[in-house]
Amino acid sequence: MAQHTSILILMLLLYSLSANSSFQPALVLEMAKILLENYCFPENLVGMQEAIQQAINSGEILQISDKKTLATVLTVGVQGALNDPRLTVSYEPNFVPVMTPVLPSLPKEQLTRLVRNSVKVDILENNTGYLRIDRIIGEETAAKLGSLLKDNIWDRVAHTSSLIFDLRYSTAGDLSGVPFIISFFSEPEPLIHIDTVYDRPSNTTRELWTMPTMMGERYGKKKDLIILTSKRTQGAAEAVAYTLKHLQRAIIVGERTSGGSIKVKKIRIARSDFYITVPVARSVSPITGQSWEVSGVVPDAIVLAEEALDHVHEIAAFHRELTPLIEGTGELLEKYYAIPEIALKVSNILLRKYAEGLYRSVVDFESLASHLTADLQETSGDHRLHVFYCDVEPESPHEVPKIPTAEEVGYIIDALFKTELLPGNVGYLRFDMMADIEVVKATGPQLVKFVWSKIVNTDALIIDMRYNTGGYSTAIPLLCSYFFDVEPLVHLYTVFDRTTTTMTEVMTVPQVRGQRYGSSKDVYILTSHITGSAAEVFTRTLKDLNRATIIGEPTIGGSLSSATYQIRDSVLYASIPNQVVLSAITGKVWSVSGVEPHVIARAMFQRLCSESSNCNFECA
Ligand SMILES: *[C@@H]1O[C@H](CO)[C@@H](O)[C@H](O)[C@H]1NC(C)=O
Ligand SMILES: *[C@@H]1O[C@H](CO)[C@@H](O)[C@H](O)[C@H]1NC(C)=O
Ligand SMILES: *[C@@H]1O[C@H](CO)[C@@H](O)[C@H](O)[C@H]1NC(C)=O
Repeated sequence: MAQHTSILILMLLLYSLSANSSFQPALVLEMAKILLENYCFPENLVGMQEAIQQAINSGEILQISDKKTLATVLTVGVQGALNDPRLTVSYEPNFVPVMTPVLPSLPKEQLTRLVRNSVKVDILENNTGYLRIDRIIGEETAAKLGSLLKDNIWDRVAHTSSLIFDLRYSTAGDLSGVPFIISFFSEPEPLIHIDTVYDRPSNTTRELWTMPTMMGERYGKKKDLIILTSKRTQGAAEAVAYTLKHLQRAIIVGERTSGGSIKVKKIRIARSDFYITVPVARSVSPITGQSWEVSGVVPDAIVLAEEALDHVHEIAAFHRELTPLIEGTGELLEKYYAIPEIALKVSNILLRKYAEGLYRSVVDFESLASHLTADLQETSGDHRLHVFYCDVEPESPHEVPKIPTAEEVGYIIDALFKTELLPGNVGYLRFDMMADIEVVKATGPQLVKFVWSKIVNTDALIIDMRYNTGGYSTAIPLLCSYFFDVEPLVHLYTVFDRTTTTMTEVMTVPQVRGQRYGSSKDVYILTSHITGSAAEVFTRTLKDLNRATIIGEPTIGGSLSSATYQIRDSVLYASIPNQVVLSAITGKVWSVSGVEPHVIARAMFQRLCSESSNCNFECA
């Protein structure tokens, strides 16, 4: 903390101009005193006064003759030191404080007129309510107006089926009115802690809670609520938008709000014509531990304020389409996901969350896709489940690939394989993609000649899978077979396919082209965090059967086969693993997490394909 204040002193010293008036040290000290008694983050001021006094005593304090310059210097110093842009010092010899009228003291007729002018209620098509409030009045004023507000505003709104709450023009208001509004959009129970407000001058902390009882009917928490904001939305309106957003009660459409403050005061520094503007209270949301102050409220759908209302109709139309999409996602899971019990559980949770209104913040297909993905992964514990958005039908990575021509084979081999002979007759084989069995067969003679024959007669082999993000799983049995003997055939793993409900024992194959590496020589497999899908299955199989030592990083944790299913004719697709692999040794399902190496080591390469884990999911 003392560090902040030393910056303040430094700033002051830097601007040293001419030596003249002697009132400046006193001015700075007075300013410090005001901050100490009023600034809402007193913990940031520890040691400040002492530091200033010390600087004065040692004669280091600056002398500036121009008063406007001095005010600017002090502003820069105090903002820099306390990292708060709201703190300003001004020189205003003709300043006349504006007396903002205290609302509750106004006559009732005047108050009524004021409310009439700052509130608008309308009922739009489809029983959608529209409520615009330009000034959120405090509880005292509301009390004075009696049932006027209830009859003319809240009761009218309460019977609509959904509500557009327009706070785009709400630039002033009283924080004490916030609990009423939040309560209106909540249930009586449980009570919700909305805000904690610390007021520095009185050194008191006040908690704002929803109200257990209200005069009129509540809107409750079930019906849709859309709040419109603009960059001018400020103060109490920001508190309302922020709280309802983070309670997941409302979606916010429009511009990021102004980022005002609960309470800012302009205080005269001693008897001078200098004034310091100080935030004297601060708000902390117990929901987020943070605040809308200074940074504002970020909308769920960011659009120009003047276009916000049009956008609401788009969102409303989108929300009407949500039910089949969420049900459809659950149905696809139940039908195709490899582990039926989990599919059912996840599908039920999705529906429950939707019914509870937790999909309200979704404003378009993209946000729906990311919301669904997060929920699927969280409730299933399976990070392979994925919903994505695609305008064009995505290419399935499992379609039968094209068989390469003789000319292409050369390129493929050059691009995908690397071999080396290391000292001690150790072979090194790196390959970066798992090809389909038909491709392997078609390229077989060249593969054996240009790749395999170079390393097959070594005493030990290093297989580098660090750059292999997978591909087709059809060639895995053949590939594994090279590392076992002709006889006996070895049970590699068992595949359960959910779509056909069949169990298939996958064995080594009796015949391979060229020479085998056999079952007795040492094999080391290098892995990285991008080693995935079929490369991972190969690695896990050899690990499972104690045929190889795995060195590197845990692998991605992919799946043997994920298929992509369109969700109800929409532009959304779900990627669902439809097979599980059972270990040949334990008979248990392989975990969805990656292969743990025997020896953990940094894979040591640049992030050459940081997004590659998602390559299959990305829209072309
Ligand atoms: C010093 O300040 C006084 C008033 O504060 C002013 O009248 C005088 O001209 C200043 N002198 C210099 C050298 O700036
Ligand atoms: C009213 O609802 C109907 C059917 O649900 C819909 O087609 C129409 O677009 C809605 N009107 C507005 C303004 O949202
Ligand atoms: C503010 O109040 C707390 C107790 O509520 C007390 O510990 C603290 O010393 C007070 N701070 C000041 C500056 O008066």
